[in-house]
Amino acid sequence: MAKYRIAWMPGDGVGNDVMEAARIVLDALKFDAEYIPADIGWEFWCKEGDPLPERTIKTLKETDCALFGAITSKPRDEANDELDPSLKGKGLSYFSPIVKLRQMFNLHTNMRPCKAYPGNPLNYRDDIDQVVFRENTEGSYGGVEFFPLPEEVYTALCLNPKMKPWKDKGLDNIALSTRIMSKQGCESICRQALDYAKNNGRKRVTLVEKPNVLRETGGLITRVFRELSKGYGDLWTDEANIDAICMWMFKNPQDYDVLVAENMFGDIISDLCAGLVGGLGFASAANIGDKYAVFEPTHGSAPKYDGKYVVNPMAMLLTAKLMFDWLGEDDLATRLEGAIADVIKEGKVATYDVRGVKAGQPGANTTLEVAEEVARKVK
Ligand SMILES: NC(=O)c1ccc[n+]([C@@H]2O[C@H](COP(=O)([O-])OP(=O)(O)OC[C@H]3O[C@@H](n4cnc5c(N)ncnc54)[C@H](O)[C@@H]3O)[C@@H](O)[C@H]2O)c1
Repeated sequence: MAKYRIAWMPGDGVGNDVMEAARIVLDALKFDAEYIPADIGWEFWCKEGDPLPERTIKTLKETDCALFGAITSKPRDEANDELDPSLKGKGLSYFSPIVKLRQMFNLHTNMRPCKAYPGNPLNYRDDIDQVVFRENTEGSYGGVEFFPLPEEVYTALCLNPKMKPWKDKGLDNIALSTRIMSKQGCESICRQALDYAKNNGRKRVTLVEKPNVLRETGGLITRVFRELSKGYGDLWTDEANIDAICMWMFKNPQDYDVLVAENMFGDIISDLCAGLVGGLGFASAANIGDKYAVFEPTHGSAPKYDGKYVVNPMAMLLTAKLMFDWLGEDDLATRLEGAIADVIKEGKVATYDVRGVKAGQPGANTTLEVAEEVARKVK
């Protein structure tokens, strides 16, 4: 019997291409795992009205963790249009399966390393090495939204005098998205970031927020961060507003180290960080809970490149490295990262984004060629 059972979820579009690439490298590393295929994504929404079928949840519960490619998500009206005719008019509504997975398995921590590997021509600078800790289940992406606005919600909102500008707009004319943050959620993400910094020799942890405007939610996480920071001795902790840090990150990215933020701000800042070290082709991510984890590259399904094997598999391969870290397979993690770093440094085999050519045009290697080169370098 294999040592690990890994749920295998390619999902949509280029998720399939990069997962095929990952398999080449995992096999070269002789990772002792059984891969259990699990359905997720747009196809299952269209055919079954559920992008995360019950059988997938069952599979996940029977595995150690999951590797995931990407999914396609579309706005409500488009999602309804593409439903199988037999499912239309049944009150089904699309909800992102990855957001659902994060909530259902309480994958409270989204960890996104952004490291400039030497030799990558896309590096903004060569001395960038940041890790973003993004709260993964609450905040702006909590999914508590209303349109039209129910009467009871309207009545509750009117308890706040700042509701005045919308009082007479009419319930059918108001859309509401919420930003609900709990003290527990704030404590958990701040503690993860601080612990990570302490255990990995990092020097600085920066909370990214906007408490001068988002006074209640921003205020809560800021108070929690300040209180927890007191227990981390010499660690340099500070705070930055989300807008200001977008500017500072371009001016002095080398100054930042570990960053911690609520869901949406963490999403924004991690894409910015990814842009500094090569873009989505290099951006890996881990969704981590207390007992389970789902590993996925930051990028989406890039539908225009679906099945063309042109996208960069490095994001997916770096994601597999995060899986090894989480499983405690330190040797595999080191060997995989070493092979990735070697391929980047040599620069002989690279996809279109690294070469600076148009995808599918001559001058770039395919997704699988890059994976095969990494597999060859595995020691
Ligand atoms: N976690 C996820 O699965 C996830 C994340 C983001 C977007 N999405 C979904 O993916 C679909 C497409 O969204 P999008 O086009 O805005 O974002 P995307 O990340 O899929 O792609 C945007 C562009 O980035 C580039 N790119 C992405 N991955 C790359 C890679 N590995 N190598 C090189 N270049 C790469 C391509 O130019 C691509 O067209 C949407 O339906 C969206 O909802 C899913």
